[in-house]
Amino acid sequence: MVSIMANEWIVASAPGKVILAGEHFVVKGEPAIAMAISLRARAYVRFREDKDIVIESENLKVRSVPTRGIVKEELIPIVSIVNKIVEMSNCNRGIELRIKSEIPPASGMGSSAAVAVACAAALNELLNLNLGLDEICKIAYEAEVIVHKKPSGIDNTISTYGGVILYRKGKGFESIQYNIKNHKFILADSGLPRNTGVMVSNVLSLYNKYERILKHVYKASRELVMMVVDALRKGDAEMLGDLMNINHGLLSAIGVSNAKLEELVYIARMNGAKGAKITGAGGGGFIVALVDNSSYSKVMNALRTVSRRVFVTEVSKDGVKIEKDN
Ligand code: MEV
Repeated sequence: MVSIMANEWIVASAPGKVILAGEHFVVKGEPAIAMAISLRARAYVRFREDKDIVIESENLKVRSVPTRGIVKEELIPIVSIVNKIVEMSNCNRGIELRIKSEIPPASGMGSSAAVAVACAAALNELLNLNLGLDEICKIAYEAEVIVHKKPSGIDNTISTYGGVILYRKGKGFESIQYNIKNHKFILADSGLPRNTGVMVSNVLSLYNKYERILKHVYKASRELVMMVVDALRKGDAEMLGDLMNINHGLLSAIGVSNAKLEELVYIARMNGAKGAKITGAGGGGFIVALVDNSSYSKVMNALRTVSRRVFVTEVSKDGVKIEKDN
């Protein structure tokens, strides 16, 4: 066993995600496709000289010291991860955990899951627990339940394993070949706050009220997702774009779009995007547009006139990883 000095930081990072198809429908057992992106969350951990556990998030500007009874609400899911892992290791040393993330919170890009996965992986390394990826993913899922109440598990899964996955709740995931060439994904912020837990529960209530109609929309999403798998494997960007547009229509049908999200989607399409849709829970957050390399700057510039934050991203093969220890 390698002994770790009090001042050595261990760093783990995990990617954010874009859901290409099937968000919300996945909560009721339908398949969905998620893609890891280049924006990452990082967890820095090290032992302390004293016995305290100190958790700090740079982005949320909060600090909790659970060993002194100071627990800020935003950090409750992370405190639960720390408690669980410390309990598993029987460690009685003080620990410092710092979180930094490039993934905008409440954006639909899976920031809470990426933070949870990175924290679990960093603590696993610090405490020499040798947990496998499945266990890290499961610990992160438990934290996601605290944040989002009824998550499908897709966010922590893509953040753990990276790449592109076909996910089914309770049935695990399959890695999907991604052969789309010469295209990028543009993400544009609606600037509207939203809460995944609330959006998921609104959609479930709508389903219960109008099941006779909505069960067909869920079935349509299932077919659509399987066609997206084909489009990705074949590298057919036209088909992927069309399917993203249809998927956006299905998301509007279950009530998660609004005027601002429609504006962003239509501006992207009118300026040459092959497809554009809400990504994640909707009600706010970001849209994602598929653009070929030649129309990329036109779409970016057009979206910048109506959105505060516009990013470009590509698929990231890397899931969670230990970055360095120094
Ligand atoms: C959130 O990224 C995706 C949703 O489908 C919720 C979930 O799957 O847990 C809206």
